[in-house]
Amino acid sequence: MADLSVSFLGLSLRNPIIAGSSGMTSTKEGARRAADAGAGAIVLKSLFEEQLRAELRSITGAADSHPEAEAFLAGMGMNEGADEYLELIRDAKAESDIPVIASVNCSGDSLWSDFASRIESAGADALELNLGMVPVDPTASAAAIEDRLVALVGAVSKSIRIPVCSKIGSSYTNVGNLAARLAKAGSRGLTLFNRFYRMDVDLDSMSLSAGPMRGSPEAYHESLRWISLLEGRVGAELCASGGVYDGSIALRLIAAGASSVQMCSAIYAKGYMAIASTLEEMDAWMDAHKVARVTDLKGRLARRNSASPELYGRLHYVKALTGQT
Ligand SMILES: Cc1cc2nc3c(=O)[nH]c(=O)nc-3n(C[C@H](O)[C@H](O)[C@H](O)COP(=O)(O)O)c2cc1C
Repeated sequence: MADLSVSFLGLSLRNPIIAGSSGMTSTKEGARRAADAGAGAIVLKSLFEEQLRAELRSITGAADSHPEAEAFLAGMGMNEGADEYLELIRDAKAESDIPVIASVNCSGDSLWSDFASRIESAGADALELNLGMVPVDPTASAAAIEDRLVALVGAVSKSIRIPVCSKIGSSYTNVGNLAARLAKAGSRGLTLFNRFYRMDVDLDSMSLSAGPMRGSPEAYHESLRWISLLEGRVGAELCASGGVYDGSIALRLIAAGASSVQMCSAIYAKGYMAIASTLEEMDAWMDAHKVARVTDLKGRLARRNSASPELYGRLHYVKALTGQT
């Protein structure tokens, strides 16, 4: 039996597989089932900024709110607010013996610093900041958007003692630069990457509709690229998210430099036991290849450990030269 234990965000994980934030981790039963299937940690479903604002508004009557977004979330059955979320953290801790990482989806910093302290008091082992925001304003500059994210991470990190991990999308001009800035602002870990809500159009009703809910295994290539490029170079531990469907993909991401690996769509597709089968596949591969500890594999194919770092930006060129295109 291979040793799968790892350290991530200063937490001891029995293995690197984390049940990623989604509806599958939005209840205490979901948390327990992920833990029973063998997960090394759980990231709870995100509490959305609009949910927190709605809660504050109901308490204070404050006008600072986004009524349309709140109505939308309520329509999606996401009208549970801050108190319920704190309860979920306490319940998930009670139901499982693995680290529980809370998650908040945020774009502004005004609310989260206070609430982060309550998350810490509720017993969360860490906090993932889901920096998922689609910049709908074409006049907003990339620099201004990134400055706001860095300020938010800085403010929240200063307000709590538990580790903070920032989860970002991949659509930045230089992911590595933003990653390093977030790490400097206090983010101990970085989750690469989020998968944003897919949009579609329903021609019959001539209205917007939701695109496919789940991602495919294809997605892991994007995480793998950036993890291999950034491991050991931005001052944060890296967690892969996107397309982790089996043990082979998880091990590839770890070889690229991931400290831990999140699973989400695979759990929707195959159930919580996708976690158990992924762990079995990892163990079998490691036994067959005489790799005793998963940490021995970590970063073996990261750019900083490579004798040919130029390959990491020029693989397409190499492929063209060798006639593989
Ligand atoms: C139905 C669904 C709900 C999700 N909800 C959240 C969420 O609340 N917070 C979050 O940070 N990510 C959320 N995600 C993103 C996942 O945690 C994950 O980062 C993304 O789906 C990529 O991983 P995957 O390919 O394993 O699904 C959600 C994904 C799906 C499919």
